[in-house]
Amino acid sequence: MRLLVTGGCGFIGSAFVHMAIARGAEVVNLDKLTYAGNLANVEDVAGEPGYSFVHADIGDADAVREAMAGVDAVVNFAAESHVDRSILDPGEFIRTDVLGTAVLLGAARAAAAGRFVQVSTDEVYGSIPSGAFHETDPISPSSPYSASKAGGDLQVLAWHRTYGVDVVVTRGSNTFGPRQYPEKLIPLFVTNALDGRPLPVYGDGMQVRDWIYVDDHCEGIWTAMTRGEPGTVYNVGGGYEAPNLEITRRILELTDAGEDLIRYVEDRPGHDRRYALDTGRLRGLGWQPARAFEEALAETVAWYRDRREWWEPIKSGEYRRYYERQYGERQKTTTEGAC
Ligand code: NAD
Ligand code: DAU
Repeated sequence: MRLLVTGGCGFIGSAFVHMAIARGAEVVNLDKLTYAGNLANVEDVAGEPGYSFVHADIGDADAVREAMAGVDAVVNFAAESHVDRSILDPGEFIRTDVLGTAVLLGAARAAAAGRFVQVSTDEVYGSIPSGAFHETDPISPSSPYSASKAGGDLQVLAWHRTYGVDVVVTRGSNTFGPRQYPEKLIPLFVTNALDGRPLPVYGDGMQVRDWIYVDDHCEGIWTAMTRGEPGTVYNVGGGYEAPNLEITRRILELTDAGEDLIRYVEDRPGHDRRYALDTGRLRGLGWQPARAFEEALAETVAWYRDRREWWEPIKSGEYRRYYERQYGERQKTTTEGAC
């Protein structure tokens, strides 16, 4: 099997590239290497005979057409993926997550490139106070990020209905594990705690997320790619629901840091209160998450503790400018919090 994987130098994409190579697939990894793309994430597969890398933007129709030649499936991870950055600057999210997806779809249709797997997110559904979202529920995105991802999903499903492109959409929940860019909750708080820096908890910290370990998420995408029905959406959730404050306290414990590092700061605008997914449809294809949250979190914290050479260079330069823009003012408006 020959796969075009886009965004394979990011967090989940690189885990998927490792999985695909280990399973004997050929992988063409097309990545723009934005701030979140890192060649170090794929360095241990870079020498494999089945692996090749294309440095390109998914919005570049010529590069995409060339990379698609002879593939059996396209797996689209490439995206601007961070909600807070989308609130600061939505433009790049629309260019990549909406327009870039359309360019890829056009090329996949022209090349008859087999199955098109759109890696999407539970955030397209919006917030749910109780119960869990099913794939048939309407979408109601809250942030420029989730609205852009929803735009991508809708095009993918429309390309199926209009042109008969063989597509599946996966909607994953909050993912954690090694090689995640340290702007997202878990890697940010782990690396800050290891350095004795404050952990900026938004609002009261009682927002609930459904956490899934990265390899379980990739296995879900693999299942949908190989066994999913054309034109179908599959939820991929770990089923471990927890408020952010609980995750924060677990991280403090695992890093031997104290609660004095917690800073309650101004909330994220449009912050979704709770996400939850019904995963019955994907389970019906034989998938289920394999990793227990506590054990996978401990392993993840150990990875960041042992791999300072991976994240210390990232947390400089552009990252510092972003951090100041995102947290500078916020940290001055510390709020009460939940406890
Ligand atoms: P990431 O930000 O770590 O990686 C994104 C990758 O895409 C990077 O390698 C980047 O260089 C590349 N990229 C960005 N714009 C590009 C472009 N225009 N052309 C080519 N490459 C480009 O993201 P992630 O957390 O690994 O997420 C991967 C996918 O999974 C995204 O589509 C995201 O929406 C989705 N997702 C993420 C999560 C999560 O919790 N991280 C959960 C559900 C779904
Ligand atoms: O749900 C799937 C989504 O999960 C993916 O589609 C996104 O790509 C991924 O970034 C993630 O989005 P979230 O916004 O949920 O993740 P983030 O790690 O940014 O935030 C998780 C929760 O933690 C959220 O409620 C906001 C809160 N948070 C986050 C940061 C960065 C804080 O309280 N403080 C912070 O500094």
